[in-house]
Amino acid sequence: MRILVTGGSGYIGSHTCRVLCGKGYDVVVYDNLERGHEESLPEGVKLIVGDLSDTEKLKECFQEKIDGVIHFAGYIEAGESMKNPLKFYKNNVSNGINLLNVMVKNDVKNIVFSSSAAVYGQPKEIPIKESSEKIPVNNYGWTKLMFEQILDSCKLNSICLRYFNASGAGFNIGEDHNPETHLIPLILGKVLGKNDFKIFGNDYDTPDGSCIRDYIHVLDLADIHLIALEKLFEGVNGKYNVGTGKGSSIFEIMKICEEITGKEIDKKIVERREGDPAELVADVNKIYNELGWKAKYDIKDIIKSAWEWHKNNPEGFK
Ligand code: UFG
Repeated sequence: MRILVTGGSGYIGSHTCRVLCGKGYDVVVYDNLERGHEESLPEGVKLIVGDLSDTEKLKECFQEKIDGVIHFAGYIEAGESMKNPLKFYKNNVSNGINLLNVMVKNDVKNIVFSSSAAVYGQPKEIPIKESSEKIPVNNYGWTKLMFEQILDSCKLNSICLRYFNASGAGFNIGEDHNPETHLIPLILGKVLGKNDFKIFGNDYDTPDGSCIRDYIHVLDLADIHLIALEKLFEGVNGKYNVGTGKGSSIFEIMKICEEITGKEIDKKIVERREGDPAELVADVNKIYNELGWKAKYDIKDIIKSAWEWHKNNPEGFK
């Protein structure tokens, strides 16, 4: 079977491509390489370099029969989405519609979509259920919620995976964003002397005052994409939280980083970052009950694997 993976050269996409190839799928990656890395792709995938807005180029992906699409391509930085809303709506919504149009014209109906916990905004209940209120607090979250709605409105078979905090590394590849804004790579970058690191606020309503997130290993994320795809082929549709169901605060993460790296890390506290909810932890019952999946890795596994990657690749893929 042949799967089209948009954004396959990105962080989660490149890990997922390896799992798909390992399971014997033919993988076609469509990626503009704006934020991804060609070096992160496994051997054997067919890369077509193009933008989702380029309908003619996109059609090339469908020259051979495509059985399903995993749609990762999109911008991910919540902060940037507040500065450049139109850029986000154009790429994540409008270009996504372009993909759906080409899919429909080629009679491809199965799509796994990279959604996000950002659809929930400031949650009123923890852990967050899929049915919880969805009022995003940034434009990034709105683009994801809108695209979920668009999938609902079309007669497509879809599974939307609402990722919590993707982190960790596997297959000798890892996280390399530019600019990097994510917690774990920044803490480890600080240990390596690559960047500065500051804690954004210690006055949240949490036990130690710092924000709590549900960090999910990228290898767990890669596995759930394969499971979702195969469930989709069996006729399952739905929207699922993808997390561990356990939260870690920034201070807890820093302590584990100190244990794993053997280095003490400066705990410099600055103002809160705009738009950060105090706590985001997934209720993971639905995905377990309906897709039979639960996370294999915990936060220590995540940080150990991330440290291996960052220590051995301080310049990322360069
Ligand atoms: N943080 C710091 N200092 C930093 C960077 C981050 O204190 O230098 C804090 C943030 O304030 C936040 C926590 O670390 O409290 C995690 O921040 P990240 O930027 O790593 O991740 P976010 O929770 O903001 O967002 C991530 C993804 C989103 C996704 C969300 C879902 O980037 O795309 O997880 O939970 F929507």
